[in-house]
Amino acid sequence: MSLRLGDIAPDFNAKTSIGDINFYQYLGDSWGILFSHPADFTPVCTTELGRTAALQQEFEKRNVKVLALSVDGVESHKTWINDINETQHVHVGFPIIADEDKHVAGLYDMIHPNASETFTVRALYIIGPDKKIKLTLTYPASTGRNFVEVLRVIDSLQLTANYSVATPANWVDGEKVIVVPAIKTEDAIVQFPKGVEIVKPYLRYTPQPNK
Ligand code: BEZ
Repeated sequence: MSLRLGDIAPDFNAKTSIGDINFYQYLGDSWGILFSHPADFTPVCTTELGRTAALQQEFEKRNVKVLALSVDGVESHKTWINDINETQHVHVGFPIIADEDKHVAGLYDMIHPNASETFTVRALYIIGPDKKIKLTLTYPASTGRNFVEVLRVIDSLQLTANYSVATPANWVDGEKVIVVPAIKTEDAIVQFPKGVEIVKPYLRYTPQPNK
């Protein structure tokens, strides 16, 4: 059965490119991103891991720990990381899980047999500090993910967690946000001192609270 939003992210122990880890210990109190790749030494994956490494400071600013996965082994990962660093001009510092027995892939439903019996699809999970699944994305092997979009989603999730606001279509950091329907307008006016713009009783904007 696949994992759904709000489910507890399963814990696991795994071999990785930086040594053995326990998932929950690795995450600590941080947010987490766990994302899978079809295989080592493949072109799209090489660019994805390169983009993730290039954005490492952005993930750190948001208190997000990153963890990649493919079903190849540790030595293969290490050799591939050298290639990624060389070709993408980065330093891959985050671990890549060597999920040769497909244990983690099974826990997170990362193998979709009608796409491939053997390789993981491009699954991505964002996990909150409470260890609950906050977002899932599933891409086919041939489409590289947009890691700027992943950062945008994290910004939105963290705003919702901290300020009871939602983010509109195409929102980017710094733009006005939406007051969640659960808050009455009279309470919203107190809670959001920068102002509440009432377009309809159910559509109310406020400037981004943490800017
Ligand atoms: C890739 O990561 O480049 C890739 C993997 C499988 C199929 C197509 C592309």
